[in-house]
Amino acid sequence: MRVLSGIQPTGNLHLGNYLGAIRNWVRMQDEMTGDAQCFFFLADMHSITVHEGREQRIRNVRDMAAALVAAGIDPDRSVLFNQARVPAHAELAWLLNGTARIGWLNRMTQFKDKVGKDREGASIGLFVYPVLQAADILLYNATHVPVGEDQKQHLELARDIAAKFNSDFGVELFTLPDPIIPKESARIMSFRDGSAKMSKSDPSDMSRINLTDDDDAIMNKVKKAKTDPEPLPETAAGLVGRPEAHNLIGIYATLSGTTPDAVCAEFAGKGFGAFKPALGEVLVDTLRPIRQRFLELRTDDAALDAILDKGAAKAAAAAEPTLRAAYDAMGLMR
Ligand code: TYM
Repeated sequence: MRVLSGIQPTGNLHLGNYLGAIRNWVRMQDEMTGDAQCFFFLADMHSITVHEGREQRIRNVRDMAAALVAAGIDPDRSVLFNQARVPAHAELAWLLNGTARIGWLNRMTQFKDKVGKDREGASIGLFVYPVLQAADILLYNATHVPVGEDQKQHLELARDIAAKFNSDFGVELFTLPDPIIPKESARIMSFRDGSAKMSKSDPSDMSRINLTDDDDAIMNKVKKAKTDPEPLPETAAGLVGRPEAHNLIGIYATLSGTTPDAVCAEFAGKGFGAFKPALGEVLVDTLRPIRQRFLELRTDDAALDAILDKGAAKAAAAAEPTLRAAYDAMGLMR
């Protein structure tokens, strides 16, 4: 078993990232036994598809590294690194560009969502982004990839690329990875619009809970979160067609380790005026210790850089044999 996953270091870690992915990363790390290792990385080579200045990028990587450690990733047990420091990712992505088909990439919904109507003006990087993601995963022969629902299609593409490469070159080189997607919190929605996912790129900060939000900001965002005028239903079946209510109750259930049905039973017939303070409280209780650790870690750039240096060396060593084998399978080595 080899666990691997990545996150783009753009903006803050938010509640969607945390509940959709990072909590699972930490859980899987903590369940690892023996010499088995998890690989977690900052996808800074992916984030070049979003324009940022040099200083901002440097800050973003340290911010995200601190956020992951604060959330429970232990750099002594897991390999924590940033992608740009392990050139094997870019190299394998180029090799896989020979295998991936334009038709496959044309079907990627995330690309379509991101470019909207301006397809001609989109960067090539954004289009081939899922090939780099496949390289990230296949380099380490990852078997389990904990991600939110929105990454499912990219994982399927990684499997297709792996299978085609193996069959085209007659090798058993790449392992087909399985996505690990949480049942309840695979898709956390915006606090302003129950039909849009919570995201770093939403221009409204009120749409998301950031890991760095203080207690007051969290309570305020929950208070202002969009809801509907109906009271909470008796069972989760009554949440159909009520996306905002469904989202908030799902978050409460996930954070308090219960089910949406149990939350509905607890608050049945009450309005959101009664439910929201309870939700705010579990959010504050969950995020406060993470935020405090984050703020401490963020005071020491050198320590964060040392963690990433060590991680990059370990990752490069683990990636090298697969990269060499891919070159060899393609007849690029003598
Ligand atoms: P990214 O940076 O957009 O998000 C990181 C992780 O957070 C999950 N996520 C969510 N889960 C639930 N609800 C939400 N609203 C929500 N928003 C984000 C994502 O599903 C993801 O698991 N392409 C990837 C990064 C990547 C990667 C990889 C992941 C690059 N290479 C290899 C796995 C394996 C991305 O942009 O994630």
